[in-house]
Amino acid sequence: MTPLRIGLLGHGTVGAAFEELLGARAGRVEQLTGRRPEIAGVLTRTRGDFDEILARSDVVVELIGGVDDALRYLRAALESGCDVVTANKQLLSRHGEELWQLSRERGRSIGFEAAVAGVVPAIRVLREALAGTQIERVHGIVNGTTNFILSEMTRTACSYEAALAEAQRLGYAESDPSDDVGGSDAAAKMAILARLAFDAPIHIDDVRFEGIEQITQDDIGYARALGLALKLIGTAERIDGGISVRVHPAFLYAGHPLASVGGSFNAVTVEAEAITEITMSGPGAGGTQTASAVLADVIAAASGTQRPVPAAVSVPIIEDVTSAFYLHLRVIDRPGVLARIAQCLGEEEASIKSVVQRGLGEHAQLVMVIHPLPESRLRAALGAIAELDVVQAPPRAIRVIEEEFE
Ligand SMILES: NC(=O)c1ccc[n+]([C@@H]2O[C@H](COP(=O)([O-])OP(=O)(O)OC[C@H]3O[C@@H](n4cnc5c(N)ncnc54)[C@H](OP(=O)(O)O)[C@@H]3O)[C@@H](O)[C@H]2O)c1
Repeated sequence: MTPLRIGLLGHGTVGAAFEELLGARAGRVEQLTGRRPEIAGVLTRTRGDFDEILARSDVVVELIGGVDDALRYLRAALESGCDVVTANKQLLSRHGEELWQLSRERGRSIGFEAAVAGVVPAIRVLREALAGTQIERVHGIVNGTTNFILSEMTRTACSYEAALAEAQRLGYAESDPSDDVGGSDAAAKMAILARLAFDAPIHIDDVRFEGIEQITQDDIGYARALGLALKLIGTAERIDGGISVRVHPAFLYAGHPLASVGGSFNAVTVEAEAITEITMSGPGAGGTQTASAVLADVIAAASGTQRPVPAAVSVPIIEDVTSAFYLHLRVIDRPGVLARIAQCLGEEEASIKSVVQRGLGEHAQLVMVIHPLPESRLRAALGAIAELDVVQAPPRAIRVIEEEFE
C-alpha cells in the first residue's frame, strides 16, 4: 500500500497534538483514504531540514505560525507538487491570493479549516455546503480570548483587567494578549471568511478593527439591564455593490444567534436569502481541537475532495457603514446639558432612541442609544460633543446590532 507521507512543520501546541492524533486515528485515515499515514519528518527551529522533509512528503502540514517562513515553505511545497494544510490565519489574510492561485495552477489543494474558529467547520461550510449560495452576511465570534473576557466580565461583574488576568491564568490568553484583545486576530479570520463568502480578494488591511480594551463594567451593566449581550463581533457583508469587513465590540439583541455564545467558544453565522441563516459554534482553539480540524484537511487532501479556492474578483470596500450606536458620556449635571448634546447629534441627523442618566453633579453619566446612521456622521457628532465644556471625558460609542424586524 502507498503510504500517505506527511511533512510536519511545527511541533508546538497544535503540531504535537496533531502528531498524537494522527497516531491514534491512523486506522481511520487509512479506511477513508486507502493510505496509511506516516510522519515523513518534523521541522522546528532546532530540528529537521525543510528540503529533506519536502522531498519525502505528499502533504505538508504548516503549524509554525508567523508569515515569512511559512509563506516560503508553503510556496515550495505547492511548487514541488505537495498538497498543503495550514492553520495560519495571519499568513492567509496577507498572502492567501498568491497561495490559492499557486494551488490552482499546480492542481494541488490547500486546506485551512483550522485557521478560522478552530474546529468549527465554518470554512468547509463556505467552501462546500454553501458553494452555490449567494451569501449576504457573515457574523462571527472568532476570538475565544475576547469572548471569554467579556463573558467573565458579565458573569462576575469584574473589571476588564481582572478578566484578562483570569484568561491568562487559564491559558486562554497569551502573556502578550495584544493581537487578541486589540482585534487583529479576529480581523485576520474575518478577512478569510469574507474571501470565501464573497470571492473577493480581501486582505487584512481591508478590515477595520477595534478591540475590547476600552470596555468597562458600565457597558456590561447597561447590556445586562437591557437584556443585551456585549461581544466582539466580526462582520462581513455586502453593502450597495461593495463589501464591508469589520471587527468591533457590539451589543446584540438577546435573540441573536451569537448572543448566547459564552466562554472561549467561537461561532459563525452565515446569512443568505436562500438559507435564512446557519450558525455553527464550538471550541475556537486548543491543541487537540485544532489538530482535529487539521487532520480532516489531511484526509480531504489525500482523498482528493478538497475544492480549489476560486479566483477572486475585486469589489469596492465600503468604509462608512450605517449602524445604531450606544453612547456613553461623562458630563457635569447642569441644566441644558442634554439639550447641547442633542443639538450636536441633531446637526449630524442623529436621532436619539433612548437616554438614561446615572449619577448627579460632577460625575453624571449619560447613556444613549442612537438610531442607525452612517458612522462618519456619528464620529462628526462625537467630535463636536467632545468639545463641549460640560463633557468630562472623550465620548465612547459602541455599535448596536438590532433585530432587523423590530
Ligand atoms: N494554539 C491554538 O490553539 C491554535 C488554534 C488555531 C490555530 N493555531 C495556529 O496554529 C499555528 C501553530 O500554533 P501553535 O499554538 O501550535 O504554536 P506554538 O506552540 O508556538 O508552536 C510553534 C512551533 O513551530 C516551530 N516554529 C516556529 N517558527 C519556526 C520557523 N521559522 N521554522 C521552523 N519551525 C518554527 C516552533 O519551533 P520550536 O519548538 O523550536 O520553538 C514550534 O515547534 C499558528 O499559525 C496558530 O495561529 C493555533
